[in-house]
Amino acid sequence: MADFTFGRLTFQALDKERLPLYVEWMRDPEVTRNLGVPMVPFSLTDEENWLENEFKRPIDERTMIISIQDAGTAGLKLIGNGGFHAIDHKEQSAEIGLFIADKSEWNKGYGTEAVQALIWHGFYHLNLHRIWLRVHAPNKGGIRAYEKAGMKHEGTLREAHYQEGKFVDVHIMSILRPEWDLVQKKEG
Ligand SMILES: CC(C)(COP(=O)(O)OP(=O)(O)OC[C@H]1O[C@@H](n2cnc3c(N)ncnc32)[C@H](O)[C@@H]1OP(=O)(O)O)[C@@H](O)C(=O)NCCC(=O)NCCS
Repeated sequence: MADFTFGRLTFQALDKERLPLYVEWMRDPEVTRNLGVPMVPFSLTDEENWLENEFKRPIDERTMIISIQDAGTAGLKLIGNGGFHAIDHKEQSAEIGLFIADKSEWNKGYGTEAVQALIWHGFYHLNLHRIWLRVHAPNKGGIRAYEKAGMKHEGTLREAHYQEGKFVDVHIMSILRPEWDLVQKKEG
């Protein structure tokens, strides 16, 4: 399908030209520490390999880039990405993941809006019933953003992730289609 917009965000397909910016982002521990990626210096080749694998995944599960309107240039400014993993068509369930990697854009509501957009896309286009995510307990900003987007705490995997010298809990958060329908009805 074509690019889509949701609120202030534009979702597009990922392409090779973006990879140098990804390398910059992936080299910043402040951005990556809650992603569960290896904490090693990332190279352009790592990102090229990642992109190659992305294109081998089912099309519904390919990472989409997320941009906002750039006040300076009137064009689009890439701020992060998001997408679906492991879509289970029988259970109509899928995991989402995202990152707003441009730190200058944190705490402006874009993370919340990106999750709302993925939820809308998952229920409206992919016919899912349950959308869930994993979030590391220290990621307070993430937890807050997902709550604001309507996700509920479902359970905790105790000390399931090793991060910066210690084991941390991993929370599972989710939203079901009827919960989302209710919010849509209320918002009219
Ligand atoms: C987590 C992430 C998606 C949040 O995006 P964002 O655009 O900053 O999110 P929002 O602005 O929509 O919401 C953040 C909320 O958390 C709050 N917050 C931020 N840091 C916080 C902290 N340390 N403790 C408590 N609340 C915090 C903000 O104040 C805001 O809440 P408010 O609107 O009620 O004031 C983004 O920071 C990110 O991608 N980080 C790097 C990678 C990552 O962690 N990805 C998610 C993996 S699950």
